[in-house]
Amino acid sequence: MSFVIGIDVSTTATKAVIIDRQGDIVGIGSASYGYDTPAEGWTEQDPHLWWDAAVAAVGQVLTDNDVAPSDVEAVGLTGQMHGSVLLDDRGEVVRPAILWNDQRTEAECDDIRRRVGGERLIEITGNDALTGFTAPKLLWVRRNEPEKWARVSHVLLPKDYLRYRLTDELAIDVAGGSGTILFDLGARTWSPEILDALELDPSLLPATFEGPEVTGTISKAAAEATGLGHGTPVVAGGGDQSANAVGVGAVSPGVVALSLGTSGVVFATTDTPQIDPEGRVHAFCHAVPGRWHMMGVMLSAGGSLRWLRDALAPDASFEELVGAAAEIPAGSDDLLFLPYLTGERTPHPDPRARGAFVGLTVRHDLRHLTRSVLEGVAFGLRDGLDLMIEAGLPAPTQIRASGGGIRSPLWRQILADVLDAEIAIVQTEEGAAYGAGLLAAVGAEWFGSVEDACAATVTAETSADPSELRTIYTEAHARYRTLYPALAPTFHSGRD
Ligand code: XUL
Repeated sequence: MSFVIGIDVSTTATKAVIIDRQGDIVGIGSASYGYDTPAEGWTEQDPHLWWDAAVAAVGQVLTDNDVAPSDVEAVGLTGQMHGSVLLDDRGEVVRPAILWNDQRTEAECDDIRRRVGGERLIEITGNDALTGFTAPKLLWVRRNEPEKWARVSHVLLPKDYLRYRLTDELAIDVAGGSGTILFDLGARTWSPEILDALELDPSLLPATFEGPEVTGTISKAAAEATGLGHGTPVVAGGGDQSANAVGVGAVSPGVVALSLGTSGVVFATTDTPQIDPEGRVHAFCHAVPGRWHMMGVMLSAGGSLRWLRDALAPDASFEELVGAAAEIPAGSDDLLFLPYLTGERTPHPDPRARGAFVGLTVRHDLRHLTRSVLEGVAFGLRDGLDLMIEAGLPAPTQIRASGGGIRSPLWRQILADVLDAEIAIVQTEEGAAYGAGLLAAVGAEWFGSVEDACAATVTAETSADPSELRTIYTEAHARYRTLYPALAPTFHSGRD
């Protein structure tokens, strides 16, 4: 028997998925953790949590499925992007990692634009400086915690900390690397010009690798801790969005991936680095060698529905809540929801953006609120897609959707109508971990390329087609688009 393992270091859990040569999932192990919010808009996590959870998840999945360590041919890593893991010269963690959804770095983003030049920054990295990205976090620690910064010898991303613990190697994949905005997007590695402008020593940064490339092998100590075989190759893998795209087969232009978890992401593969000159959508390297992608990221997609449930109906299941919303007509009787509960990235890169219900009347009840949350999230995703279309992406005909939110047939139909495209789902819900496993399978030479791996293993089936309701949504979306410009002054005049 031979297997590969994909490991996903997400914001809420680390998951390990064993995949066989047919691409079937043999077993899943998972261990969860929380994160800290030491101040409004700040999110941090102790990197040791990821290691402990990986040890538990890998141990569990190997034992539960009777998989011998020697039968695992390669391991692939994926995880939350943009987090700053800071290590000293002995590899010890200097401070908790600042996560992808942390909003503390507005001043440092301005500083980066000033140092590099706003247009030049986008030209080189493909992206504007946004609070979630890694580079501004490094500047924040340097400015606010100089004594800690003085101890920093290595900067890694969350999954690359796990790689370090597994293999003793300091390495990063190009998809994750480009999400630091310290990358030259076209060259697929660190940009000397950006590092110089930000006065960051290149020796802080790890070596860069393409997704299926082997970055090292499981060390003796890691083998003892996890149950993996000493010497098993570990491939670079990819940031969670590009690994998810591999997991759903969105690896060549034409197939768009949509992920609906806490955040909501629209992801399109490109053959060349395709950059919006205003930096309104992200442009990153794909985990597929020689490919790039554009991406729009909403910070609170499934997160908005979770908030609604927790705030107004904590005893209801998501199925009950969304089931009741199906009784309400499309357009939620003119109720609109703005989903910027944790600030926003796409289409309004604004950490101070806030959520809103607009148009409430006494006739609205919880069902309307719920439906307008589902619709508002779909409108936000449409905004991201529209920006990519403006930047040159052909309008997609099929969108491969994944993530917890996609389990809802009502939400799938709303997305098909609002995005005006067929929504397809694939045979597994394990998107990112599965994609990391496929990258490992390419590294183990089971397949000649990532595209071949996806063609052999990923099957997609249509789950919703656009319906006649889309004209109602076109009109509601136009009204929704007026809300952010009208409300932004109010959001910005609130307390920080
Ligand atoms: C992508 C992004 C999120 C995080 C958390 O740019 O910020 O997908 O990686 O999952």
